[in-house]
Amino acid sequence: MSSKAIYEMAKKVMVGGVSSPVRKYDPFPRCIREGKGSKLRDVDGRTYIDYCMGFGPLILGHGDRRVIERVKDQLEKGVLFGASTELEADLAKKIIRHYPGIETVRFVSTGGEATMSAIRLARGFTGRKKIVKVDGGYHGAHDSVLVKAGSGAQTHSIPNSKGVLPEASKYTLLVPFNDPVALEGAFKREKEVSAFIVEPVMGNMGVIPPEDDYLKRVRELCDSHDVLLIFDEIITGFRLSLGGAQTLYQVVPDITTLGKIAGGGFPMGILGGGKIMEELSPIGAVYQAGTFSGNPISTTAGLATLEILEKEGYDMLDSMALMLRRGLEEIIEDKGYRCRVQGVGSMFTVFMNPEKVSNSHEARKSDLRAYMRLHGFLLDHGVYLPPGQFESCFLSMAHEKEDIDETLRAFEEGLNS
Ligand SMILES: Cc1ncc(COP(=O)(O)O)c(C=O)c1O
Repeated sequence: MSSKAIYEMAKKVMVGGVSSPVRKYDPFPRCIREGKGSKLRDVDGRTYIDYCMGFGPLILGHGDRRVIERVKDQLEKGVLFGASTELEADLAKKIIRHYPGIETVRFVSTGGEATMSAIRLARGFTGRKKIVKVDGGYHGAHDSVLVKAGSGAQTHSIPNSKGVLPEASKYTLLVPFNDPVALEGAFKREKEVSAFIVEPVMGNMGVIPPEDDYLKRVRELCDSHDVLLIFDEIITGFRLSLGGAQTLYQVVPDITTLGKIAGGGFPMGILGGGKIMEELSPIGAVYQAGTFSGNPISTTAGLATLEILEKEGYDMLDSMALMLRRGLEEIIEDKGYRCRVQGVGSMFTVFMNPEKVSNSHEARKSDLRAYMRLHGFLLDHGVYLPPGQFESCFLSMAHEKEDIDETLRAFEEGLNS
């Protein structure tokens, strides 16, 4: 069956024809049959250079043999025991070695579960109800963070979801990214703040890097107002460096959330921190639990992936990404197109907005129709971008110079069309 026919069938049996809203785009989403290295192949026989990379987890590319062999071996031994394994402890040790803010971890199954548990932990630890989040920050699809959320919630114009009780969202306060003055104002006004949750590099309104000393100032403000700092590193963890954004920018949070890459392509979420973690059950009184938490397949794939990242480092990946970003910038400058490339390491976004984007308000000024037109053109010319302006594109270690050259040619034609 063709992508179109599968979509028509899927719409009858799955809500909107998709399993997650951000996967839907017009006229119909391409239905993917397989992924290998930097490429996706759809059921219609088309091949794409992939910059979605499963929305971030696949830093080694699709189907890395070294990970697959380890997972196959584990499949034979067992996929789920509902009991402790050495694999979990080994992965925990690796994470702790790389993250200055983490002394112990709790494994969960998704990023959303990690941030939900981190917020509960912060509330339980401080005894305070409120959290502050960034306008446009996306931390998963649970009640207290679906307030002006980015990513698919923004793309589909539902940043404040129906069904979230006003009682739940009234404890979530908003500040713009890159604005320490607004954060200080919120901390001075509000007495009941338990935590500030922030993506240290925003990835869910497109990529927005932190300005100058923003993160350092955030740390100081949290300290001086006795507010816990949660870095949501579910995208940036193991992506910007082995120790994530907190190592790159040298700012240590109280709680870190991880996921995506740490599961090597399988479901994964992690929360970690210092002494505060002792508040979690079974030691402490903040309850948290999960059937699939720390399951042997995700932990095996995570371990295999992290071992490869430790061995190979990020130099090649980051220089390939820089080559692509520079190439795009040259094309845009040369012809004066009304767009702009922003990125850090191997994550980037092409904003259909010529001005610098330093917060969500500025990101929303992008021409969303122009982005989806470019997205459609690139699909027809073998380049797969995430289907929304408010997403990050990702490179993987499987991307090669030929991919970059081909991508630049397609962009040049696409912007010109
Ligand atoms: C920064 C950030 N936090 C949390 C999440 C939620 O993770 P998951 O989709 O695994 O629940 C995402 C997902 O994209 C994310 O980008």
